[in-house]
Amino acid sequence: MNKISESIFSLGNGRMGQRANFEETYSGETLPGNYVAGVYYPDKTRVGWWKNGYPEYFAKVLNAANWIGIDIKINNEVLDLNNCQVSDFRRVLNMQEGYLLRTFTATLPSGKQVKVAAQRFCSIVDDEAGAIRYSFTPLNFTGEVTVTNFIDGDIKNQDSNYDEKFWDEVQKEVNLNTAYLTLRTKKTAFEVCTGMHFEIQQNGKALTVEPTLIEQDKFVAGTVKVVVAENQETTIYKYAANVSSENYPKEELLTACKKVIAKVTAKGFAQLLAEQAEAWAAKWEESDIMIEGDPAAQQAIRFNIFQLNQTYTGEDARLNIGPKGFTGEKYGGTTYWDTEAYCVPFYLATADQQVTRNLLIYRYKHLQKAIENAEKLGFKNGAALYPMVTINGEECHNEWEITFEEIHRNAAIAFAIYNYIRYTGDAAYLNDYGLEVLVGIARFWAQRVNWSEAKQQYVMLGVTGPNEYENNVNNNWYTSTMAMWCLEYALEALECVKNQAVDKYRVILTKTNFEKAEEKAQWQHILENMYLPADNEKGIFLQQDGYLDKEQILVNDLLPEDRPINQKWSWDRILRSPFIKQADVLQGFYFLEDRFDLETLRRNFDYYEPRTVHESSLSPCVHAILAAKLGDGERAYQFYLRTARLDLDDYNNDTEDGCHITSMAGTWMSVVEGFGGMRVRNDKLTFNPFLPVKWSSFSFKVNFRGALLKVKINKQGVQIFNQSDSALIVLVYNKPYEVNGQSEILAAHEYVA
Ligand code: BGC
Repeated sequence: MNKISESIFSLGNGRMGQRANFEETYSGETLPGNYVAGVYYPDKTRVGWWKNGYPEYFAKVLNAANWIGIDIKINNEVLDLNNCQVSDFRRVLNMQEGYLLRTFTATLPSGKQVKVAAQRFCSIVDDEAGAIRYSFTPLNFTGEVTVTNFIDGDIKNQDSNYDEKFWDEVQKEVNLNTAYLTLRTKKTAFEVCTGMHFEIQQNGKALTVEPTLIEQDKFVAGTVKVVVAENQETTIYKYAANVSSENYPKEELLTACKKVIAKVTAKGFAQLLAEQAEAWAAKWEESDIMIEGDPAAQQAIRFNIFQLNQTYTGEDARLNIGPKGFTGEKYGGTTYWDTEAYCVPFYLATADQQVTRNLLIYRYKHLQKAIENAEKLGFKNGAALYPMVTINGEECHNEWEITFEEIHRNAAIAFAIYNYIRYTGDAAYLNDYGLEVLVGIARFWAQRVNWSEAKQQYVMLGVTGPNEYENNVNNNWYTSTMAMWCLEYALEALECVKNQAVDKYRVILTKTNFEKAEEKAQWQHILENMYLPADNEKGIFLQQDGYLDKEQILVNDLLPEDRPINQKWSWDRILRSPFIKQADVLQGFYFLEDRFDLETLRRNFDYYEPRTVHESSLSPCVHAILAAKLGDGERAYQFYLRTARLDLDDYNNDTEDGCHITSMAGTWMSVVEGFGGMRVRNDKLTFNPFLPVKWSSFSFKVNFRGALLKVKINKQGVQIFNQSDSALIVLVYNKPYEVNGQSEILAAHEYVA
């Protein structure tokens, strides 16, 4: 239970984050977790059966020094909630202002009672710093309390492949109430200096303390004894900083850390907290969703938005979004296709366009590595295969069916470029970065297909689609369709750059050795002759060749005890079954929706959804959006419910490992693209909303090309308020409305559900 709460109450500021571990000693169940973005360790691959082409390592964002530690001993008795009787225990995650508050009363085995309030945050204003206010009040005794403020760098990743520790000590320094510990990662030699400064107050006055200093291997602390009287509150303020060699020369790390500590100490807790609240208010102003009539849904969506904003702030193009963010070790804090396929829409609509642009530039910077990755697998001439899992551009996933075969990720990266330009209108992105990436990706697809003499068409063999419950299939419709889309888009992008910046176009052609006539003709030939499996009788696309040979049973035919099948069935049984882990064909309908009419969508939806077990948290959101599009508001709402409170209610029994951060973006998509029916078409925002029956209203914020809109849907209709100064044309149920600056429009409901 505690590990679940530790995940849910996690804190982060894009640059660092942590699980909601206790400050004081805790001998019960806990998963300690402190993470510094971008600092990773290449943990040597561990597999049963080595396959050529596997990456040598899995890059993991490391569990880093614990800076929250404050041990409390009351007359030599350790305050450890695992050994105490605890009452009034409360944890509050204040999402409005961005802090965590924990309060409790503990009765120690000796009978001494103490009341504690611990408040802390990772500052999003000073994003290398965090602060804690820890107060304790003896309720039935007067005595001596020993307070040890510490930084513990002797930390291990729970998921370490060989049970190794990943950090070495570089230096430490302890001086009065300040301490610094610099650690270096093995192999990668990243250095992180963690610093702390503490103050102790009684009756609002700072105590002059002479701490006993402790220096041990990878551990620094200052211990202070304070006399405490019954009902008298003692407060410890602890300021901490993490600075990394990603941002400073190593020889300047200690000085840099000292500067951050001096800065935040000078500001003090109250000012830091006020700045934190102000910065969070600005984030909420851009990204809040309000739901009236359903407090559980309201709490859920805000929790999702809060966690996404804690995970990625978009200030540093070297950082990305791990599926668990800073809330746990699972997935190693690395980047998946989740970013492009699920997170991009959220950041596009709720933050400055620079935020998404940085996510794209992250991949641009990895282009050379993607080319090398493809070369390792036998591709040539600048073909780029982006990794399924990465932190530095190198592939580090090592299950053959995913590493080598789940290549559809390449298309999501191209699609994100398209999506970004569609949303922002920043077509110049193609000239500076986008086109090079698109050429590399298109080249990969052009080499990955092969001409089938038998079919007299191109085919794509041996792939794994988004549905990971099928491996090594031929002609996965989604992968092939998206590959063709990439070829088309790359051709279009070439024309676009030629027209808008011919000099840059020439530079890119030279840089990429692009054989204009030949390569374009080859891509065109593939486009005209690609095999895409379909069943004309049923009027559906086929997930892959042979899908209809499977026993055609439905999810409804499964017994409750068979589910989830990934925990109950052997892998071969899953592979042979028709059951689909997550949107596969339907993922294609989501991305390329304008290419298919509603009836085609309906046939495919009605066929595939009943065979989908939604055992990836990324699945329900796509289904919610498509169900809404089909006019089935009730089903859309049901799908939404499956992810909205996934972690808060621990639906999948796995929240203790961390929260499902990337699927939280999917929850946002369900509301805005599903219930709100928001799209961008021809440079304009369009809405096709409906109001879930359980809600009396909902509203969301959208940033669009410099304008901030508040879209509210209630029983009366659709209200759009333009909070910016210039006018904007939006479409509601396909009708254009001009929304002047600082004004609103109202439209009547027309959604047919
Ligand atoms: C899903 C993938 C996803 C990964 C990380 C897997 O369970 O099938 O689509 O990229 O989790 O979230």
